[in-house]
Amino acid sequence: MVFHYPEEQGIQHNKISSASISTMKFTPFHLEDLYNKFENQYQYNFSSACMPVLSLKDIFNKNQLNELTENFLNTKLDYSTKFGSSKLREALVKNLYPCLKKENFITTAGASEAIYLIMKSLFNKGDKVIVQKPIYQSLFQVAQDAGAQIIEWHVNLQTNSWDINELKDLISKNSDTKALVINNPNNPIGVAFNKNELKEIIGSLDERILIADEVFQPLSITGTPSVSALYKNAIGICDLSKSFSLPGLRLGWISCQNQELINVFSSMRNYLSLRTSLISDLVAPLVLDQSKMILNKNKMILKNNIDSLYKKDKEGLFFNLDIPKEKISSLCIFTELKEQYKKLQLEDLVKERSIFIALGDNFGEGYKGYCRIGLGNLVSPQLLESML
Ligand SMILES: Cc1ncc(COP(=O)(O)O)c(C=O)c1O
Repeated sequence: MVFHYPEEQGIQHNKISSASISTMKFTPFHLEDLYNKFENQYQYNFSSACMPVLSLKDIFNKNQLNELTENFLNTKLDYSTKFGSSKLREALVKNLYPCLKKENFITTAGASEAIYLIMKSLFNKGDKVIVQKPIYQSLFQVAQDAGAQIIEWHVNLQTNSWDINELKDLISKNSDTKALVINNPNNPIGVAFNKNELKEIIGSLDERILIADEVFQPLSITGTPSVSALYKNAIGICDLSKSFSLPGLRLGWISCQNQELINVFSSMRNYLSLRTSLISDLVAPLVLDQSKMILNKNKMILKNNIDSLYKKDKEGLFFNLDIPKEKISSLCIFTELKEQYKKLQLEDLVKERSIFIALGDNFGEGYKGYCRIGLGNLVSPQLLESML
């Protein structure tokens, strides 16, 4: 299989002879490649899926920092423990998942590793997987590259929502479906299912596996629960990168009540990072103990950013803001470009306005003419001006 970069996005790749890579089979991650391509070439990132990044000084007081430093300096940098330290998993239970036990978790190198090892360990050639679309690429691509058949459950772009009756139809037409994959709140659409909708979805699954990427769930301003607390065959994925503003820690986790699945993931992880970083494992429980403070602050920033954007809409942005403000649950908004901007190329936006934005075609066929706005970064008046 030849490694193929999408030429239409102008991504250069080294010419490697196809013979030398004949065993390689994976599809490039379009959006992450775009970030790499345009890195440092723009002033305004209007596509960030992270809240403003924090330092440890932003989170802890002087005494806590002294204690942490002392602990860092005296810790032998061994491998951390297999599922993540007890202290870290207990902090997850205490601060985010009061209905679960520490045995229901395994920590990973970011949500990225969690997604990869779940997909790699669960899906084989011919397996049927229903996937909410659009969605963060790895949530279907890894399974698809392993030969699984992806059945798409599409958003209605008029209402920015997914019809659960449509999901029920997809399941009854494909009764051998193995799992459903969702991202809740969704990247790039930005909306979330509420608890009742999640219960209806779970009811329709009839014991099948539910995989939910929940990296924006702690930040959700409309409120949405983690699925792992609702259903024994649910697998939740979360991290400290998005809602907690600490992507550099590369700390993620999987939550699941089914111990057999946790053990499978632990076994698969022997081929990936083996264990998460010990330094991150030391910091993470202390960060989680500050959850309320970090999340409240980030929710406030997010609400202010949303308000500023909707105010500016009155002056005429280059995209429509048809989605009611109250529906936005996290930091993405997926919106249609105004007619005269539909043929817009990212290269032009970067060159002419110094803006980086994710255009709809990065999320699959059918989304051309749309764009994903990321409201994580502080929205400055200058940034808003550049979008008129
Ligand atoms: C929906 C979603 N899942 C997972 C990830 C990966 O996050 P991490 O930094 O934890 O690997 C991202 C990153 O943008 C994301 O948007």
